[in-house]
Amino acid sequence: MPRRAVTVMPARRLRGRLRVPGDKSISHRYAILASLAEGASRLTNYAPGADCRTTLACLQRLGVDIVEHVDSQGATGNVTVMGRGLGGLRSPSSPLDAGNSGTTLRLLAGVLAGHPFSSTMVGDESLSRRPMHRVLKPLERMGARCEATDGHAPVTIHGARLHGIAYTTEVPSAQVKSAVLLAGLHADGVTSVTEPAPTRDHTERALAAFGGTATTIGLTITVGSGQHLRGRALTVPGDMSSAAFWLIAAAAIPGSRVEIEDVGLNPTRTKLLDVLRRLGARVTVEATDDDGGEPRGRVVVEHDRVGELVVAPDEVPALIDELPAVAALAAHGASVAVSGASELRVKESDRIATLAAGFRAIGIGVEERPDGFTIEGMRAHPAGGTADAGGDHRMAMAFAIAALAAERPSTIVGADAVAISYPGFFDTLERLVAESVGA
Ligand code: S3P
Repeated sequence: MPRRAVTVMPARRLRGRLRVPGDKSISHRYAILASLAEGASRLTNYAPGADCRTTLACLQRLGVDIVEHVDSQGATGNVTVMGRGLGGLRSPSSPLDAGNSGTTLRLLAGVLAGHPFSSTMVGDESLSRRPMHRVLKPLERMGARCEATDGHAPVTIHGARLHGIAYTTEVPSAQVKSAVLLAGLHADGVTSVTEPAPTRDHTERALAAFGGTATTIGLTITVGSGQHLRGRALTVPGDMSSAAFWLIAAAAIPGSRVEIEDVGLNPTRTKLLDVLRRLGARVTVEATDDDGGEPRGRVVVEHDRVGELVVAPDEVPALIDELPAVAALAAHGASVAVSGASELRVKESDRIATLAAGFRAIGIGVEERPDGFTIEGMRAHPAGGTADAGGDHRMAMAFAIAALAAERPSTIVGADAVAISYPGFFDTLERLVAESVGA
């Protein structure tokens, strides 16, 4: 893949109103559950990034009839999925390619465990470094046989008749929880997952939207067998993890105000708004509706002041994807300390190492620890420089937000990684910066 470099100009404020792409986590789940439902589903505002297209491509290889309605920029907007019913997927003729997408590989592993055939899933270099044992272990306990390459992709799932289990996850992971619940839909008896801390609950909500049931009591989520899912029309809200970059920039830069419409407000995804309020930003939220059980609405963030931000370990699961962007606050003067976040090391890149190297390259000192980092808020503008995103979409966007504070233009190497979740990110950045001059 070519590693496109993008130049980011300093911006002395950011003002504007926008929408962000459809939520990545919700899109994956809607596509998967629509495939397991009976009848057609129409998914509107399906996430346009490469990860969610990867899920569609894998489902097509598993025999699901999917029509993508592509817009003039070539981005997936709306998708029609012809469900095959629970257990109705077909054996693929060659390995399924999950690309860069951990959610695709881990959630599909759960689904495939309950199908009576063997399938192999591969991933790109980054995905092949990420731990898969955490998801294969419970699937084996349910009766599937799984092979991995030293705990990593390629993984082969030999599907079987599964039986329900009561499983306690070691790390808070919505992907692991979801894989077990999806396997549980195909298993005899009852399957439950108990988490060490709550994680995003999109699978549970999506299941209900398609006519199924998942019951949550405290930290335990249970699904039963014999469910019938029915296809339906659903609209995906904007992705809070993509909105995060703009909201953080607005909170950080004096004179800024950003308004985002139709963004997902699921309470397991809005921790960032609490954090920005705590930092001293003005945050307004107006809920509009909750199609498919996923609340959504308008969020406005305005700069007021920035102080010190300490992210405690118990806040990390609800903020895990936003932490690279949260770190960018330091470029604009806020001191940021994060601990209990060793999971950052097994994301699309080792996000603590990538962050430290990229920030140092643009003139921001980072104290790196095994489970987090501390960054002193910059008293002066960082010098600017060349930061390498390390093939990681969220790092490319976090470096861009940090680079807005710099003295001189900065270069983000590997900026094309944004195509994973937010293909239009740099166009939107350019537009917002241009519109903010004199606004
Ligand atoms: C996701 C869960 C999280 C998150 C990822 C998306 C999901 O991963 O970081 O970007 O859609 O379930 P983990 O389950 O590994 O924490």
